[in-house]
Amino acid sequence: MNTHFKKIVITGATGGIGSAIAEALDQQGCDLLLTGRNEVKLDHLLNSLNGENHVKIVADLNTQKGIETLRDAAEKLGVNGLVNCLGINKLATLQGTEEEDISTLIATNLAAPVRVCKALLPILECKPKAVIVNVGSILGSIGYAGSSVYCATKFGLRGFTESLRRELSDTAVSVVYLAPRATDTALNTDAVNQMNRELGNAIDKPRSVAEQLVSALESGKSVNRYLGWPESFFVRLNSLLPAVVDKALLRQLPTIRRYCGMNQTKPVDV
Ligand SMILES: NC(=O)c1ccc[n+]([C@@H]2O[C@H](COP(=O)([O-])OP(=O)(O)OC[C@H]3O[C@@H](n4cnc5c(N)ncnc54)[C@H](OP(=O)(O)O)[C@@H]3O)[C@@H](O)[C@H]2O)c1
Repeated sequence: MNTHFKKIVITGATGGIGSAIAEALDQQGCDLLLTGRNEVKLDHLLNSLNGENHVKIVADLNTQKGIETLRDAAEKLGVNGLVNCLGINKLATLQGTEEEDISTLIATNLAAPVRVCKALLPILECKPKAVIVNVGSILGSIGYAGSSVYCATKFGLRGFTESLRRELSDTAVSVVYLAPRATDTALNTDAVNQMNRELGNAIDKPRSVAEQLVSALESGKSVNRYLGWPESFFVRLNSLLPAVVDKALLRQLPTIRRYCGMNQTKPVDV
């Protein structure tokens, strides 16, 4: 791997994709600052890794205190890489989405990674070469029924990442956007997994997402990487001919609505 990026912060490290990324970067000999809210999972992850210089930080990144704790630890370790991998999701129609979920989705998937980038940028900019990776989603480029708020956050993260890349294009900080398709992690409820199977949507293993991240880091360049076929093709098609994608997705709508109903915790007035 690109030998520059050897001290890397991973947010969402306790998650399915985050822990696979931690394992892959551990194998590359990186020193990692692993963060999440669940200390038991962080300890379990630390114990499973080979490197001896990894550090854990328990932090809720929806709080200012959490961001500051992470920034202080990142400064101490002298990090030159950031992988923003925290995130949440909830399959629901807009009417079936509770007010609280709207705020938490936007805070966790958009505001938190933006704030982490802002807090860590002064540390990264001091390094001869540094990298920021924001983990978005294929649903950051294709609006999908039953995921409107999640899509809003991931479209936002993609726009933020593109702007930041251009803002930093005359610096030594490269900016990567990694967009997985459905991946086998706890982010997806049983209903979501069942829906994906019924719709014929492929489900990747977290390890394959981590391999793509390592390969993106290897180039050392600012890149967008959309994972999976035909999803990466649909990203392009959606930007050129959205009406074609509208039509294709209309066929999925009854199935998506059915699973949204199954996924709801509270009944919705009709
Ligand atoms: N799985 C998929 O199908 C899929 C597809 C495309 C994109 N993605 C994206 O990939 C990323 C990782 O997802 P995943 O599948 O690995 O999900 P996951 O297994 O549910 O992990 C989510 C991670 O986010 C952390 N997190 C959530 N809220 C947080 C908060 N307030 N403060 C700090 N950390 C917080 C969790 O930490 P704790 O548990 O310790 O609180 C956990 O480490 C997300 O951005 C997701 O949107 C996932």
